[in-house]
Amino acid sequence: MDFKGRDVVSINDFTLEEINYILDVAEKMVPAAKGEEVLDLVPGKLLASLFFEPSTRTMLSFETAIKRIGGKIIGFSDVSSTSAVKGETLADTIKMVEAYADVIVLRHGREGAARMAAEFADIPVINAGDGAGQHPTQTMLDLFTMRQELGHLRKMSVALVGDLKYGRTVHSLTYALAKFGVNLHFVAPEVLQMPPEVMSHLEKRNATYEVHEDVSEVMGDVDVLYVTRIQKERFPDIEEYNKVAGAFRIDMESLEGAKRKMIIMHPLPRVDEIAPEVDDSKHARYFQQAFNGVPIRMALLALVLGADVGVLK
Ligand code: CP
Repeated sequence: MDFKGRDVVSINDFTLEEINYILDVAEKMVPAAKGEEVLDLVPGKLLASLFFEPSTRTMLSFETAIKRIGGKIIGFSDVSSTSAVKGETLADTIKMVEAYADVIVLRHGREGAARMAAEFADIPVINAGDGAGQHPTQTMLDLFTMRQELGHLRKMSVALVGDLKYGRTVHSLTYALAKFGVNLHFVAPEVLQMPPEVMSHLEKRNATYEVHEDVSEVMGDVDVLYVTRIQKERFPDIEEYNKVAGAFRIDMESLEGAKRKMIIMHPLPRVDEIAPEVDDSKHARYFQQAFNGVPIRMALLALVLGADVGVLK
């Protein structure tokens, strides 16, 4: 499969076969992601990392990933030190940065920003999160984690819990899981349920999903409990946020009745939706999930930069 020059804007731009291939390449990246092997797949290639919104995992794992495959990085994470504060448009920033680098990783608060950037740039643009839109590389590392832990991505039940309205990770993940025919459970207060466009996408594809308000309704049935933070920063009205803040919390008591092999995932950061006591339980996988961002992003960068991944064992 040839990914050279491809943008990574929406998970819907990728077929099931392409996603499986990316996960396979990522699996071969694991030893180098851990520093046990040295790779020089993209010598001299430069990644421009443009973070208009805060990030810990996505930004650092992209930086680790490009360095682990032999490339270099430029960029910013503090927008107040850029000419955006003087009124420079995103389009102008992208047109200029494409002359400096070989691939752009963009996080932006505006939904659709990555798609627009991809239209302006001739080099690949990777969406590192666009407002409440999508986070496709997060989805790939989520799928990688599920496959690693459960051995497959079919015939399973996944509950997405929390802020399904504003959470971009759950939007991308829902689209991807529907491709794999996964049984979906959406657990959220009514005001934070999945947006209608996501639901109608599922209905058009005859995907099976159920809506719940309480996590106890699904606890005994699911293979994956995917918990998310309520995205305070995306609420237009703080009073609306206050009505749902702390609406749910996963602790050891709430896990009673869970399947023995059920795994808990979370894209992180968490606030108080998973109690720290859960970290030591047999179910917790969210820190492993965060590590998996490195091999997945190594694979994606190598592929869009046209590296010969056939040399990987
Ligand atoms: N999962 C995720 O996107 O985390 P960051 O916001 O820290 O990048």
